[in-house]
Amino acid sequence: MGATMQDIDACVFDAYGTMFNYGAAAARFSDELGELEKPLTELWRTRQVEYTWLRSLMGEYVEFFQVTGEALDYAMASLKIDNADLRRRLLDVYLKLDCFPEVPAMLSKLKAGGLKTAILSNGSPKMLQSAVDNAGIGENLDATYSVDSVGIYKPHPSVYQMAPDGLGVETKRVCFLSSNAWDAAAAANFGFRVVWINRYGQPPENIPGEHEQQLDSLEGLPALFGL
Ligand code: LAC
Repeated sequence: MGATMQDIDACVFDAYGTMFNYGAAAARFSDELGELEKPLTELWRTRQVEYTWLRSLMGEYVEFFQVTGEALDYAMASLKIDNADLRRRLLDVYLKLDCFPEVPAMLSKLKAGGLKTAILSNGSPKMLQSAVDNAGIGENLDATYSVDSVGIYKPHPSVYQMAPDGLGVETKRVCFLSSNAWDAAAAANFGFRVVWINRYGQPPENIPGEHEQQLDSLEGLPALFGL
């Protein structure tokens, strides 16, 4: 197949929901959670990203693991789940999330094709390192960038700037991948070329920034570069 995206030197990936399946955290405890599993997963994730935006606006950065715990506390309180042991186990899963099944082979193809690869995420360094180790994908990643280095969350431009600076690649030659529509839009607005990985069949967000391509998983990504 011919390449449909040309002049790309690096692929930079969002972590949660794009490389790693955060939905699997609550699913591991579906017996205990029953019908609360889905609302807990949704509310936990919604508050997690909302708290990053709010803290960034307030100038109150703390690392993502703390934000993730505080969002879980809100979600559990809202759903009237009072179980400290379950809270600890849910949060622990965030350190050992599975990657989506297509990720290892997809990364190998990109590396074999000569592209640089990196993760650029809100995740704190220890969260990202343990997720990468758990998934066994470190050998096919050139770098993992955490917002912790700049002390503010996505979509602040200083976060996206870490990738071209660190990889030594021009902004317009970076292909950014995210399943989060707001992250995909913001990265395009920053100047990256963006493929929105629309795993969850969502409509696009009405904020500045246009993705160039859309896929429903990362499986088809190498083919966009003729790989
Ligand atoms: C991340 C969140 C936004 O990994 O999914 O940065």
